[in-house]
This record gives sequence, structure tokens and C-alpha cells, in this order.
Amino acid sequence: MFDLSGKTALVTGGASGIGLAISQTFAKQGAFVHILELNSELASQVVNQIVADGGQAEAHAVDISKQADVVNVINVIATNHTINILVNNAGIAHIGKADNTSEIDFDRVINVNVKGVYNCLMAAIPHLKTNGGGVILNMASIAATVGIPDRFAYSTAKGAVYSMTLSVARDYLADGIRCNSISPARVHTPFVDGFISKNYPGKEEEMFEKLSKTQPIGRMAKPEEIGALALYLCSDEAGFITGCDYLIDGGFEKLNN
Ligand SMILES: NC(=O)c1ccc[n+]([C@@H]2O[C@H](COP(=O)([O-])OP(=O)(O)OC[C@H]3O[C@@H](n4cnc5c(N)ncnc54)[C@H](O)[C@@H]3O)[C@@H](O)[C@H]2O)c1
Repeated sequence: MFDLSGKTALVTGGASGIGLAISQTFAKQGAFVHILELNSELASQVVNQIVADGGQAEAHAVDISKQADVVNVINVIATNHTINILVNNAGIAHIGKADNTSEIDFDRVINVNVKGVYNCLMAAIPHLKTNGGGVILNMASIAATVGIPDRFAYSTAKGAVYSMTLSVARDYLADGIRCNSISPARVHTPFVDGFISKNYPGKEEEMFEKLSKTQPIGRMAKPEEIGALALYLCSDEAGFITGCDYLIDGGFEKLNN
């Protein structure tokens, strides 16, 4: 079960945190993993590790918010590989409410978290169609469907990811393309450590504990736990699943009462 042998997967932001876990899990299950990353040095290190472990991977330096670059990278990959899976994972964090989020920050979050997903969709879907179908998995968040304090731009973006998932799932049914999203609560990754140290300097441990306890299960998720759900949703075993968002949240949405 969950065998990805012979499949080619694109993973954006696949060198860190959740994306890293997805890249490693998919490679372990036999996929050829293409990591599309802003941090090309880290991506090369991850590729070297995957190859050393007997897997297949390649790193591609790209900023997903730049459409021409994304189209170029994906077209180059498609000349040598039959693309089967696209995981839109790359994303950035931001803290703020509507009245203290600057235009620059709002645009930055939307450019990566929304336009970046659109860019990868528009570049990859023609190849999936040509190849007779495939799977798209988008990384949304509980912030898409719950009012999280101080996450105005981020929630806006993740709400868009949630809706894009439905739109794409509907539009490409006849092309054999399944599209789903995952909505994690907090996952312990550099993304979380980064925003804690940036926004709560000197209070890192206290904030880590506080954020861990917001999940009724009492901790943050491990990236590998998200990787396992991603594997299932991108595998043939999930062939009947499309247009769905999957909470993976330690009870955050339903048990926080
Ligand atoms: N960590 C959490 O608690 C959490 C919870 C819910 C959703 N998410 C979502 O999961 C995804 C991954 O988060 P993470 O915690 O693993 O983050 P992370 O910061 O550890 O990794 C994100 C990766 O994306 C890359 N990236 C950022 N901007 C990019 C761009 N413009 N082009 C290409 N690559 C880019 C970074 O270089 C990095 O390697 C994000 O979409 C995030 O919103 C995270």
C-alpha cells in the first residue's frame, strides 16, 4: 500500500519542516521527488540525503511567487519526467490584524501563499492533463476555517487555498485530477520556531508551551505526521477522495471547548 514507485512528485518548499517530511516520505515510498525551493542550498542538502538513502530527488531553485520562473522550471522537469503529483506546500507566516498589517506585508503573504499556489497550478495542470491525470495536494491551515487571533493576512491566504482546492477539484474532474488540501494546527517546524523567536523574543519557551497546549492533545504535530497524511492522499489508495480538506489538528477545531 501507499507505493509511489514510478511516480514523479513536485513538492514546493520541500526542504524544510512539513515539506521536508513530505519529500522524504514520498522518496522512501519510491517517488522521484522534485523539490522547488527558495532555499536552494538547503534543497541540495536534502536531495543529497535522499539519494544517499537510496531515493531519487532533484532540487530546483525557484521563487514560487514568480510565474515565469515557475512555468520554466516545471516545463523543464516535464521534458524528462511524467509529472503525477503536485504538492503546494511552500508558505510564509505573518502576525497581525487588519489594521496593523502593512500593504507590503499583505502583498508578500498573498504573493507566496496564494499567487505561488496559483502559479504552480497553472504551470503543472497542463502536464497532468497530458499525462492522463494526477493528484494535487495543497497545504491550507486551520486558519482557513477558524478565527485565529492576529493572523489576518495568513488566514486570508489560507482561506484562498481552501477555496482554490474546491475550484480545481471541480474543474479537472474529467481530466482525472484529484485535488485535496490538508489543514494542520501547529506543527513543530522552523516556521513555528522562526515566528516565535521573531515575535516573542525572550519568551520562546513560554510561547512554545502555550502554543503546544492550544491543541487539546497537548502538543504540536510532528512534520512526519503531516507527511503520512500527504502520502495517503497522493497515493492510489485515496483514489475516491477529491475536493476535501483534511484537518490534522490534535482536536483543535472540534475539541477546544
Ligand atoms: N508549521 C505549522 O504550524 C503550520 C500549520 C499549518 C499550516 N502550515 C503550512 O505548511 C506549509 C509549510 O510550513 P512549514 O511549517 O513546514 O514551513 P517552513 O518555513 O519550515 O518551510 C517552508 C519552506 O518553504 C520555502 N519557501 C518559502 N517561500 C518560498 C517561495 N516563495 N518559493 C519557494 N519556496 C519557498 C522555504 O524556503 C522553506 O524551506 C506552509 O504553507 C504553512 O503555511 C504550517
